[in-house]
Amino acid sequence: MPSRKKPGSVLIIGSEAVPFAKTGGLADVLGTLPQALARLGWDVTLALPRYRGVDEGSLAARFPLTVGGYTREVGIFEVSLAGGSRAWLVDCPDVFDREGIYGPGGGEYSDNPRRFAMLVRAALEFAALRGARPSVVHAHDWQAGLAPVYLKTRYATHSVLGGIPSVFTIHNLAYQGLFDADWLPRLDLGWDLFSIDRLEYWGRISLLKGGINEAEVVTAVSPRYAEEIQTPEFGFGFDGILRRRRADLAGVLNGIDVERWDPEHDPFLPRPYSADDLSGKDSAKAEVLVRYRLATDGATLKRPLVAMISRMIDQKGFDLMAALADELPRLEATFIVLGTGETRYQDLWTGLAARHPDRIGAHIGFDEALAHLIEAGADIFLMPSRFEPCGLSQMYSLRYGTVPVVRAVGGLADTVVDYAPSRRFGGASSSGHKKSTGFVFQEYTPQGVLEALNRALALYADPKRWKALQRAGMAQDHSWDRSAREYVRIYERAIKKGFGIRDSGFGVRG
Ligand code: ADP
Ligand code: GLC
Repeated sequence: MPSRKKPGSVLIIGSEAVPFAKTGGLADVLGTLPQALARLGWDVTLALPRYRGVDEGSLAARFPLTVGGYTREVGIFEVSLAGGSRAWLVDCPDVFDREGIYGPGGGEYSDNPRRFAMLVRAALEFAALRGARPSVVHAHDWQAGLAPVYLKTRYATHSVLGGIPSVFTIHNLAYQGLFDADWLPRLDLGWDLFSIDRLEYWGRISLLKGGINEAEVVTAVSPRYAEEIQTPEFGFGFDGILRRRRADLAGVLNGIDVERWDPEHDPFLPRPYSADDLSGKDSAKAEVLVRYRLATDGATLKRPLVAMISRMIDQKGFDLMAALADELPRLEATFIVLGTGETRYQDLWTGLAARHPDRIGAHIGFDEALAHLIEAGADIFLMPSRFEPCGLSQMYSLRYGTVPVVRAVGGLADTVVDYAPSRRFGGASSSGHKKSTGFVFQEYTPQGVLEALNRALALYADPKRWKALQRAGMAQDHSWDRSAREYVRIYERAIKKGFGIRDSGFGVRG
């Protein structure tokens, strides 16, 4: 149901967004959510840093900004986004014109608290300078965790910013923005915040905790993850903090950019294709094999191509894959990976590819075009995640007719329905509602992945059923519109709370 209330304005703050900067799914989300909200009539501004290499936008203003005695002149470069929304790129070369987004070579810059405080403060102060008071501020992950904090402290009685409610979205609880407590004065924050129900976390401060505790409403990027993070297993020590905010915690499943990720119009594919005619997928597969220097003979083309595109870290199940290293070349499949991450996993995959050049390909690097080609050319997409707040790649795979094999966690559990023979391909599930779209396993063990993978490989040998499974996935709708409507309801709820209007809360399912 579309909201009947008058649309308002939202200032979204985060550390990465397509097309300006990307290391993972957060960038995809912040690159698409603004347009989806704008389609619902909302006035949307997205604030993010103007990192090295970002040269879009025209200068809207320059003004001095002081955070904890550190003064710099900051610039705001404005870029129009589709649908009438806009981005504010915060220019402050001393903190943002650096080699990395978060740190050198995957590390962390020691002044990250200041860097992201500058982002948040520049965005809020520029809104105030313009007299453009947003109805709500939507902050993402620890890098923007200070937005709810400043709104509740420094700007609480500000003539323009005073009383603006905020929504804080958790994309990944594993990144907690933990810093020494002596950062508090350097961020213009009082020691009263160094308490267990504010920012203090085991003797340090957590900017993630600040966002969670100070926002009116907290969301996680899938309904399942919103439940999981309240348990010790997935809570990373934050489960108690989140249980405390249970009444104000909701899960909103991410959408995907169905224009950027569309097999019928994807400029990175040799030939477009659709559910009616999947032949373009074969051309993409052949090209992937060439790019990975794998054979393109009939047998290899026929053999199922299993792909991973991922940050190479434990979260994504790379330790399980390492345990299966000897097994993989023996399976009736070809494996490829595209990713960057921990050296041990990069080395493992390049080593495997060198030893089994007929069966395994590895590409270490970040390559958007290749990612699109692989989503199209692979037969099976593998995401054996230990935890997965939402996951976007499996939704891209569904849309590209590439069957996902995933673990039943977070957004993977919310978006992929396990194929069970009793459920029939693409038929109704035992619960009578959902169609099978992939293969799902429960246990985080090498055997768990292997069993699901083997089930997938077995069904691949049955082309009729396989095609039905592909088509069931392709028929799914994961566009942003529904999720954007949910965010609007959440914004309205935060606004109501900001006015001190009591409501009953929503909590999460269950
Ligand atoms: P996460 O944000 O945890 O990394 P998601 O599944 O939400 O996981 O999003 C990952 C995004 O990053 C997807 O758009 C995926 O295609 C992209 N991606 C990950 N690694 C690479 C890579 N090496 N090259 C290109 N794109 C990548
Ligand atoms: C994080 C999560 C991923 C999610 C993405 C976008 O990077 O690891 O699961 O899809 O954020 O919300």
